[in-house]
Amino acid sequence: MAMSKIAPSLLAADFRCLERQIEVIETEADWLHIDVMDGHFVPNISFGIPVVRSIRPMTRLYFDCHLMTTNPDAFLPELAEAGADLVTMHIEAVPDPTDPAKKSRENGLDFGLVCNPGTPFAAVEPFMELADVLLIMSVEPGFGGQVFMPEVLGKVEEAREWVEEHGLATDIQIDGGITLETAPLAASAGANVFVAGTTIFGARDLSTAAAELRRAIQGNE
Ligand code: DX5
Ligand code: ZN
Repeated sequence: MAMSKIAPSLLAADFRCLERQIEVIETEADWLHIDVMDGHFVPNISFGIPVVRSIRPMTRLYFDCHLMTTNPDAFLPELAEAGADLVTMHIEAVPDPTDPAKKSRENGLDFGLVCNPGTPFAAVEPFMELADVLLIMSVEPGFGGQVFMPEVLGKVEEAREWVEEHGLATDIQIDGGITLETAPLAASAGANVFVAGTTIFGARDLSTAAAELRRAIQGNE
């Protein structure tokens, strides 16, 4: 199985001092998870391309842009130019992601698919070979600080089995309510990329929180 990765979610950061916060988590993080919301696909608005562009020079972290937008393929050249590395798109927004995946790659971006808690693995299965990452939401998308939904663990297991059976290297990412208690559950089910907003940016010492999360996952991989 692919190596475990920690992806702090910028949504929970203190926006008054993004540079300092990114600097503090950088050594303990693998990816930076960037939640782009449009107030339409999800009932919330977060941030977008200008923020990606302004934080890009601050870090070498891999920029994982989780697009919670109705037309996630509308701004791919702009996102790529601003410094995104990966875009993940909800299958609920792009029921046939073939073209969006192709456009992402044409813009030099890695591509991933996302399922909401109520969406079965079967919805993404026909398109799995297009994706570098499968993100399984463990809360309804739109807000940080929600409670992990253990009912998605079966879907994580199903996805991990499928990926192994097909000999793929697809990362299986989990997002929503990840804590020191829930991360090991997701790890045993087969997730290997752990998004954490509140658990890392809500902590007094961000880098210790990220290191503790990594320790909680190790041993349950
Ligand atoms: C929710 C976002 C998450 C969120 C996670 O729509 O996709 O990435 O920031 O926040 P926590 O870790 O606080 O549940
Ligand atoms: Zn997210």
